[in-house]
Amino acid sequence: MFRRVIVWTGHMGAAAGAFYRAAMEPNAEARPLAGRTALVTGAAGGIGRACAVRLGAAGARVHVVDRAGEAAEKVAAEVGGVAHVVDLADPGAADALPSDADIVVNNAGLQHVAPLHEFPPDTFALMQRVMVEAPFRILRRTLPHMYRRGWGRVVNISSVHGLRASPYKSAYVTAKHALEGLSKVTALEGAPHGVTSNCVSPGYVATPLVTGQIAAQAEAHGIPEDQVVGQVLLARSAIKHLVAPDEVAEAVLWLCGPHSGHITGASLPLDGGWTAQ
Ligand SMILES: NC(=O)c1ccc[n+]([C@@H]2O[C@H](COP(=O)([O-])OP(=O)(O)OC[C@H]3O[C@@H](n4cnc5c(N)ncnc54)[C@H](O)[C@@H]3O)[C@@H](O)[C@H]2O)c1
Repeated sequence: MFRRVIVWTGHMGAAAGAFYRAAMEPNAEARPLAGRTALVTGAAGGIGRACAVRLGAAGARVHVVDRAGEAAEKVAAEVGGVAHVVDLADPGAADALPSDADIVVNNAGLQHVAPLHEFPPDTFALMQRVMVEAPFRILRRTLPHMYRRGWGRVVNISSVHGLRASPYKSAYVTAKHALEGLSKVTALEGAPHGVTSNCVSPGYVATPLVTGQIAAQAEAHGIPEDQVVGQVLLARSAIKHLVAPDEVAEAVLWLCGPHSGHITGASLPLDGGWTAQ
């Protein structure tokens, strides 16, 4: 049964024709990513897992990339995808990953909270390797495939900290600002090849990355742990509750879907109004 009435005009090219024929296939709306392959880093838990589940449900074949092997295998089994157990701090890790991804979600990340003058240099370097160098190396590996197919979607999970700074997060704020820059360059170079690149930039999301920093935030700010969420994490958010991982995954899916092809080089803040201030 036809879902839409299509008025064909002589101005429509072959690519538009293929798109409209695909849109009329049964399930095209429910599974808009059928036939696509997605690679999601840090997909064993938190936001990455939510993205893997959502992209898989939309029809994509998902490469689940994480250093946490058992959890990655579990997510891969859940989404019918393939687990790749690698440590993205290793500069050679990207070479072990598939190069034929149509969608890349650079999500893996970590946090460390400490005043700049006490921040461990090794931790600073590690965070740049995982959150900046690994995305660069993965894009360097996968963009040629996207260019050959004339279609690709890059979504970088940045943060409100890619747009704003907070004290005690020198490595994280540095890395996320760099990721925003990498994403914009990818957008400019990818545009002639049908590849878009965007950042999704959430405020605080209810994941282990957040619960894991509460003690350190309490110490750095000199307040009790039970006051950290209200007084520190949500202090600049107009909406006073944490973002859910599924909300981030829906934004990622939308950026990979058929109605967002003109959005590129952008940063989509899911920050409860933080950057409106
Ligand atoms: N949780 C938040 O409040 C929040 C807000 C904004 C942005 N983000 C970003 O979202 C992304 C995901 O965060 P999350 O909250 O889901 O974190 P999380 O700690 O729940 O999950 C991160 C995942 O990345 C994996 N990972 C970490 N280092 C890795 C490495 N070296 N190699 C391979 N895998 C590695 C972990 O094993 C884990 O599965 C991060 O980039 C983070 O900066 C999170």
